[in-house]
Amino acid sequence: TPAHASLLHVFHLREAARKTARAVPGGTARPVDRIGVIGAGIMGGGIAQLAAYRDVDVRMKDIRDDAIAGGLQHARELFDAAVSRRKLRPSEADRKMTRIRGGLDWHGFPTADLVVEAVVERLDVKRAVLTEAEGVLDDRAVLATNTSSLSVDAMAEALARPERFCGVHFFNPVHRMPLVEIVRGAATDLDTVATAHAFAVALGKVPVVCRDGPGFVVNRILGPYLNEAGHLLADGASVEAIDRVAVEFGMPMGPLRLMDEVGLDIARHAGDSMYAALGERLEPAAPLVALGETDRLGRKNGRGFYRYDKGREAGVDPDVLNALGEAVSRDGDAPDDGSIRERLVLSMVNEAARILEDRIVATAGELDLAMIMGSGFPPFRGGLLRFADAHHPRSLLEMLESLAAEVGARFEPAPTIRRLAAEDRGFYAAFGPGT
Ligand code: NAI
Repeated sequence: TPAHASLLHVFHLREAARKTARAVPGGTARPVDRIGVIGAGIMGGGIAQLAAYRDVDVRMKDIRDDAIAGGLQHARELFDAAVSRRKLRPSEADRKMTRIRGGLDWHGFPTADLVVEAVVERLDVKRAVLTEAEGVLDDRAVLATNTSSLSVDAMAEALARPERFCGVHFFNPVHRMPLVEIVRGAATDLDTVATAHAFAVALGKVPVVCRDGPGFVVNRILGPYLNEAGHLLADGASVEAIDRVAVEFGMPMGPLRLMDEVGLDIARHAGDSMYAALGERLEPAAPLVALGETDRLGRKNGRGFYRYDKGREAGVDPDVLNALGEAVSRDGDAPDDGSIRERLVLSMVNEAARILEDRIVATAGELDLAMIMGSGFPPFRGGLLRFADAHHPRSLLEMLESLAAEVGARFEPAPTIRRLAAEDRGFYAAFGPGT
């Protein structure tokens, strides 16, 4: 069946991605037995726990004692959960937990093989912290940032050894999301990429190597997709219809529910930085802007597109459309299910084509794997571009051209799609391994 063929395809992509020698030809990975983690927050604590789970020694550093205590507590809770799921014996969990130490100083960092920076998302703070870290690290140690939206190259400018620096972008929650984007900066050398890649594999993750660029791969594709959900609201589609159509397509949850989970403030901030980096086509949809002016933050404050009762989702908030006021159309001519699906999916395909154009990721297969492992894109469809390849590129081009004419210029087809239509070949043919 097509689903079987797709799953097999994903299996092969995953296996290939986990072989460092194949994914990073020419790079030699050095062993990573001890790591340092800077910033003991949600991500730092999660990365520390995962590393300790895999028997790597961890030293965490923060600027506040309570953050270190919080990071250790977070790790302890994850180990306890593993014990209650019978994945670990209590004694094993205790022993692994002792691998994590923390403090406010750089103790333990000079002997670390790799250091992950996971402090607040601010370029000036990250530059200062990374420069300080570089001063205490061994010359051969890899220094990596977990940034989700800042430029790896902009951070590298502050460093004396940019060749040893890269991005390792884990997704939240760290113990559950399989993808790690390994971001190779302009100056990063291959041994550094290979070491970070092999480290991610040792943690049980699926690494995808990419170049520096706004949102890297997954967040860059989610940007226009989430924004399109906002445009659909503006055109009169209901919250229920938008999320239902996405789930029927196979996404683990709809885009509006996803924004509630991420936090409407964080989603808005990410949307603004994508707009600044990528221009007009990412101009935030009016309903998302309007919502940003309310006190709704999504699940974390119990109010978003949905209501939450003691942390559990309790249906679409009937008041949300009132909160959006003039930003949504009420003329009754709302997009139907077919049009919702077409707009959501094609906004992703068009951005994916631009990512390939920009050479952020080398192959269509790696892009597909990143979306499956990092956003839950349905594996039975084999990946975003494999799904797109089931249509002739000329029909993709026609669909995008009519959306650009009827819905908005943001659907203007990416040059790559025009090229593929002219050359009569699909994404996998044009961007396969070795192309
Ligand atoms: P957080 O706010 O939970 O933790 C940040 C920690 O860094 C805090 O404990 C803070 O005290 C500490 N810190 C601040 N300045 C410091 C300094 N100079 N030295 C040492 N520690 C310092 O933040 P979170 O969510 O863990 O994010 C950390 C990084 O991971 C950010 O770059 C973020 O963009 C990225 N990220 C976050 C994801 C998420 O969903 N939360 C997903 C993927 C990446």
